[in-house]
Amino acid sequence: MAFSDRFLEDLCARNDIVSLVSQYVSLTRRGGNYVGLCPFHNEKTPSFNVSADRQFFHCFGCGAGGDVITFLMRIENLDFPDAVYQLAERAGMTVPENDNEVRVQKQKKDRILSLNRDAARFFHTMLQAEEGKEALAYLAGRGLSPQTIKRFGLGFAPDSWDKLLKQMTAAGYTKQELLDSGLALPNKNGGIYDRFRNRVMFPIFDARGSVIGFGGRVMDGGEPKYLNSPETIVFNKRRNLFALNLAKTSRGERMILAEGYMDVIALHQAGFDCAVASLGTALTQEQARLIARYKSEVVIAYDADNAGVNAANRAIELLKEAGVAVKILRIPGAKDPDEFIKKFGRDKFERLLEASEADLEYRLVQAQGGLNLEEDEGRVEYLKRAVKILCEVSSDIEREIYLTRAAKQAGISAEVLGREVARARKGLISKRKKEQERKDLSPLTAKGSPARELKYQHTKSAVAEENLISLLMARPEFMKQVESRLEKSHFSVPVFGKVYARMKELHSENSAFSLTALTRDCTQEETATLVGIFAKFVGGDTVALEDYLSIILQEQWKIKDIDSETALQEAMAMFRKKKGTGE
Ligand code: GTP
Ligand code: MN
Repeated sequence: MAFSDRFLEDLCARNDIVSLVSQYVSLTRRGGNYVGLCPFHNEKTPSFNVSADRQFFHCFGCGAGGDVITFLMRIENLDFPDAVYQLAERAGMTVPENDNEVRVQKQKKDRILSLNRDAARFFHTMLQAEEGKEALAYLAGRGLSPQTIKRFGLGFAPDSWDKLLKQMTAAGYTKQELLDSGLALPNKNGGIYDRFRNRVMFPIFDARGSVIGFGGRVMDGGEPKYLNSPETIVFNKRRNLFALNLAKTSRGERMILAEGYMDVIALHQAGFDCAVASLGTALTQEQARLIARYKSEVVIAYDADNAGVNAANRAIELLKEAGVAVKILRIPGAKDPDEFIKKFGRDKFERLLEASEADLEYRLVQAQGGLNLEEDEGRVEYLKRAVKILCEVSSDIEREIYLTRAAKQAGISAEVLGREVARARKGLISKRKKEQERKDLSPLTAKGSPARELKYQHTKSAVAEENLISLLMARPEFMKQVESRLEKSHFSVPVFGKVYARMKELHSENSAFSLTALTRDCTQEETATLVGIFAKFVGGDTVALEDYLSIILQEQWKIKDIDSETALQEAMAMFRKKKGTGE
């Protein structure tokens, strides 16, 4: 990473985490901390903590955690350098000259964005030109108005191997930049050629309105139907949504999630300017969170085919996890929203929207798929499936309502179904309880650690490592006492070893142990784990420190692979040494 520790230190000092988080979460003071509802998962009682002293956030519910940079990365879906640049801007700082690598990276990004914008303009111009006639006719034939074409910046990539690249080269872009943007591809002779040829072009914007990539559609039955830009340094398909730049400012609390670009465009044209789509892949967790940042309800308007239904089921889970209410639209008599609006008009679609069902109802209807409810066999199977769905519902009222509905559909008494559901629910609850108990037995979760996924293989050592790292974080001056005796390789949990090595480095440079500096080489998950551990740390003195140190060293011989000759020798040596010191 190319930012200097000093600069990052300064950056964090000038961006108070409480003030940044407050822009997104309503916080209440509690002692020296602030608490609020976690923006990273769905909750009703606050478990999201921000520490003003220590300048980190931590959620006891979902385990999210980190410093001011991590927070901005997660909430705005940014990568590390982008978050740093935004924070620098926020604090009125300039990123120092010597942080070259990042500066160069940032310049590279800006160049690609500018190239994309120029390319989009070029494609758009081509649509009005002689050679774009057919494309324009195609779009008009699909019912798009000139205003819509303009609003979405639609264009046409001419049927040529080099028309775009010649234009862009003339405008000063290099061959490498054209390749990096994904607009050109390399040929065998070391030359390059246009990726998009004879296609209608859909520019893809990020939330801030920069052109990050393109989708190109054939105008006949050719394959592939859509060609999308590859992932580039500015185009991340998982983290962006088509038309989000427009939908984010729409009125109301709702977003419509469609499958295709054309659906989204047709919806906007019909006045539903809250429509978005994922970028040619299934909805991702990042996209679900992105939606949750702007709106609290999503209506899924996927295609009416099987693939659409499966995709909807997956999307429901992700969206609920992100904390948005989900409704599902069923589109009768048409294959997708675009076709529906064309066939039946916008008012009918509006009514469909109003009648869209909560996801539970949708799932119950889905459960009837392929069954004949006229026959006993079909009814039994449907009830089995319904019981499975209903027993998961935690709200008594909701469960009761849908239970009655399902019973009616299958033509049996609600009482009988109710008994089945109650029994299944009891089983489910006891199963969950057992699972929880098993988890609670592991020392980490017993203390409410968020690091549930972090499996400790050598618990005794791991817990000591955890405490030692926390203690050193709180009391950096204790480093003197351990640094000559403890090595990175003594740790059984790699992330602790990594952080310890970093502590040594910082200590030797006389630098502070800030979270930012310590977690420089850590992933977001690792950072969250560490913050969770720091958050629950109660303190300790040099005596405790010695305890932890000796446990870690003692456990060594168990941890090392005893089968290997050298490990065995090492273990023996250590054992002898210990005996020698009279321990
Ligand atoms: P029309 O067929 O023109 O109405 O387009 P559509 O936007 O409704 O597309 P469709 O429902 O067929 O597909 C939904 C989305 O999946 C599209 O918008 C694309 O993002 C993506 N997609 C469809 N076909 C392809 C393909 O051949 N390749 C890739 N990469 N993506 C595709
Ligand atoms: Mn379509």
